Amino acid sequence: METVLSGIRSTGNLHLGNYFGAIRNFIKMQHEHNCYFFIADYHSLTTHPTPEDFHRNVRQVLVEYLAAGIDPEQATLYVQSDVPEIAELYLLLNMNAYKGELERCTSFKEKVRKQPDNVNAGLLTYPVLMAADIIIHKASKVPVGKDQEQHLEMARTFANRFNRMYRVDYFPPPYAFNFENKLIKIPGLDGSTKMGKSESEGNAVFLADDPKSIRKKVMRATTDSGPQKPGEKMSQPVENLFNLMKAVCSKDTVDYFLQEYKNATIRYGDMKKQLAEDIISFTTPLREKILEIDADNEYLSKVARMGAEKARESAGKTIREVREIIGFRSFY
Ligand code: TRP
Repeated sequence: METVLSGIRSTGNLHLGNYFGAIRNFIKMQHEHNCYFFIADYHSLTTHPTPEDFHRNVRQVLVEYLAAGIDPEQATLYVQSDVPEIAELYLLLNMNAYKGELERCTSFKEKVRKQPDNVNAGLLTYPVLMAADIIIHKASKVPVGKDQEQHLEMARTFANRFNRMYRVDYFPPPYAFNFENKLIKIPGLDGSTKMGKSESEGNAVFLADDPKSIRKKVMRATTDSGPQKPGEKMSQPVENLFNLMKAVCSKDTVDYFLQEYKNATIRYGDMKKQLAEDIISFTTPLREKILEIDADNEYLSKVARMGAEKARESAGKTIREVREIIGFRSFY
């Protein structure tokens, strides 16, 4: 069975876009493959969070992934920093990662441009840590978006370089498993085509949002001045609302409002009311699950321990073998 692995950014709450995107695929994959999913907390330190924010974000992500349906009995779900073997492999890989290739990385260049006063070594070597994350479990398939393609290419470079340097066939080269073309793309509420956390305020509906704030956000969603003349193209913001409807409403509901639109009798207010209620029906069980898990420290601690133990077993084996290959010999 193939080993699948993916890192989860520990940057706060999940929204509908995340749910219909990566998460549903993770949930499907956990039954079909040997899956490792981890919360990338080491990586998040490049932005210097306060200790409180740091911990709260990791906890939130853990709670919400569990609530969304990642099954810790099926997949190995863990917090990156609970597996210090990853940090050791990162150190070892760093010895053969070159400044030039790291500086040429697109994501690094973007950070240099966007935050010139915080260009730290953690950012430069981010792809090395990511490679360590992946090859510590000898994972071959990495379900990530297109934006991670170059990082995967670098992970292959580091894995192959290790193999060549020590004349071994130890690390399998990992490949991005691109499911992006199969994703339902969830648009934002602000007229943009993407729901995202970093977009404008009110763009995203979070899984943990209560009904009142969902209604408020949806009622404020961007539309246009009214249905166009027959044959004219639907405006992007209205198309977005229909696309959101397709994700959460019944087909009858979508068809009804499409017909109203065609007849030019549509009232966007009515459409939004319906959309808000259907989003609420969809997210309510998720929100309840989030609240339930959030209140259960014992369960969280059990899950985290189980994940750490399973991950360390696999990572520990790799580190022992890597040390042997490199030539570490103990004096005691
Ligand atoms: N860089 C990934 C992101 O920004 C997160 C990540 C860290 C990751 N380590 C990983 C993804 C290992 C896949 C495998 O989304």
